[in-house]
Amino acid sequence: MIKNILLGAAAAIVSGLVAFYLIVSLGFVPANADATPPKLEKWIARKALHAAIDRQAPKGENPVALNDANLVAGIKLYAADCAVCHGAADGKASHIASGLYQRAPQLAKHGVEDDEDGETYWKIFHGIRMTGMPGFSKTLTEGEIWTLALFLKHMDKLTPAAQKAWVAVPSSAR
Ligand code: HEC
Repeated sequence: MIKNILLGAAAAIVSGLVAFYLIVSLGFVPANADATPPKLEKWIARKALHAAIDRQAPKGENPVALNDANLVAGIKLYAADCAVCHGAADGKASHIASGLYQRAPQLAKHGVEDDEDGETYWKIFHGIRMTGMPGFSKTLTEGEIWTLALFLKHMDKLTPAAQKAWVAVPSSAR
């Protein structure tokens, strides 16, 4: 009796794995980016992202001081590495931003000022898996990532000098 149950369970697992292999290898899993992510997929991705951030993001203050020089430094880094996907002050998406499977938010319109600096730091440092959001842990210093987080936190309330630098960032939209 137990032997039969075990055999049945093993057969179910094997046929499940075979079915899974066939679904993947015969091209039934969507691999295209020009689609809208289904609700369930979005829910799983959001849930996993927030749980990872809750567990891993650094807590506490941004170690980079809030002043004109640091805000302008953050804007320069943003112009070089982020604007192509997240846009400039005009909030208009580039072709690259619009073509990603997870559309890149245009941060001038849908910013992250409400998020803790540590959360933004985590996203820039690690990136977000299976979206276009790259991890910058290997290419930027920790100080540069905190400087970017400082700018994003204050994007909607920039000092006049920083605002001037921000509106001068060229738009990638056309
Ligand atoms: C190649 C495109 C691309 C580049 C370059 C890029 N990102 Fe992203 N980023 C994305 C995408 C796509 C998402 C949305 C991910 C998602 O839906 O979870 C994202 C998400 C984010 C978020 C979270 C937004 C939110 O609403 O929660 C932040 C913050 C962010 N990026 C900051 C940056 C910074 C800072 C840089 C530059 C250092 C950068 N990104 C470079 C594509 C990009």
